[in-house]
Amino acid sequence: MDSDKHVPVLAGRVTALLAPALAAEGAVLVDATLGRAGHAVALLEACPGLLLIGVDADVAAIEEAGQRLAPYAARVTLVHARYDEIPDILAAATRNGTIGPDRVMGLLFDLGVSSPQLDEPGRGFAYAQDAPLDMRMDQTSGRTAADIVNGYPAADLARVLRDYGEERFARRIADAVIRERARTPITSTQRLSAIVKDAIPAATRRTGGNPAKRTFQALRIEVNDELGTLRRALPAALDELAVGGRVVVLAYHSLEDRIVKTELVRRAADHAPPGLPITADAATPQFRLLTRGAERPDSTEAASNPRATSARLRAAERVRQEAA
Ligand SMILES: C[S@@+](CC[C@H](N)C(=O)[O-])C[C@H]1O[C@@H](n2cnc3c(N)ncnc32)[C@H](O)[C@@H]1O
Repeated sequence: MDSDKHVPVLAGRVTALLAPALAAEGAVLVDATLGRAGHAVALLEACPGLLLIGVDADVAAIEEAGQRLAPYAARVTLVHARYDEIPDILAAATRNGTIGPDRVMGLLFDLGVSSPQLDEPGRGFAYAQDAPLDMRMDQTSGRTAADIVNGYPAADLARVLRDYGEERFARRIADAVIRERARTPITSTQRLSAIVKDAIPAATRRTGGNPAKRTFQALRIEVNDELGTLRRALPAALDELAVGGRVVVLAYHSLEDRIVKTELVRRAADHAPPGLPITADAATPQFRLLTRGAERPDSTEAASNPRATSARLRAAERVRQEAA
C-alpha cells in the first residue's frame, strides 16, 4: 500500500498527550507498534529533541518505516522484535550508548493489525481476498492460521472463536472445520470463509456483514497470541518509564482494551487505607490517568478513517518511581 495514504488513528490526540513529556533534548519515545510510522513522524516533527525507538514484529513494516523515517535517521533506532521484548531492547540501547539511562519519557502502543497488513492479500488477514491462511504479524517465525485451523481439536477451536471472536456459532463452525479438513487441509482464506458461511444458520447469513469476520479476528488473535503478549508487555514497558513519562495505548476491541484499563487503573489507584489524614508515601499511586475512561474518535474521524471507528484511547503519566 502507498504509505502516504496511511492515516494514523487519533494522531492529533496522541501527539498532544505525549509531546509534553518529550520536550527535553534526548527524551526517548518507544513506539512499540511502529507500523508505517504515521504516529512516529507526527511525534518526531512535534518534538525536535526526541529520540525514537521504533519496534515492530513485521519485517515489511520495519522496512517501509525505515524509508519513511530516513529524514530523521539520526534520531531513530528501528528494531524488528515483539513488543514484549522492550526491556531487553532498552537495556541493549542503554549499554551501547544509543540512549541515556532513565530517559524513556514516552510509550506508544497502537495495537492490532495495520491497514497495509489487511490490504496485502498475501498476508492472509483478509477474508475478502483469497490468500494462504497465514495471519502472522511476524512472518519469520511461529505457527500460521492454517496450522491452527488444521491442527486444533474441535473444543479448542470453538473456544478460540467464542472467546476472541465472540462468535455465537463457534461450535458449529469448529465442527464444520473438523469435517472439511478431514477431506483436505484448509489452506486458503476463501475456503475457510466459505466453510464459516455454510456453517451458520441461513437467516443469520443475511444480516451483519461478512459472517467470516469474527472467525478471522479470533484466529488472528490466537496466531499472534495478542492478548497474552499485551498482558506481559504492558506492565514490563510501564516499569521502564521515567517519572514524568507518559504512555498512550490505542486498542481496537474490548478484550485488549480491558487489559489496558485494568493495568492503568491498578497503577493509578490510591492504596492508602481510608481515613488516614496524610497519605503514606508508599501508598501513593505510581501513575495518574490522563484520560477519563476510554476516548473515542469523533464522528468526522470515524467517517473518514474506517480503522478508527473501533479505537479506544487511554493514557497515563508516571508520577512516582516506586510501585505503590
Ligand atoms: C495499527 S499498526 C500501527 C500503525 C502505526 N501506529 C502507524 O501510525 O503507522 C500495528 C502494528 O503493530 C505491529 N504489531 C502487532 N503485534 C505486535 C507485537 N506483539 N510486537 C510488535 N509489533 C506488533 C503490527 O505488525 C503493526 O505493524
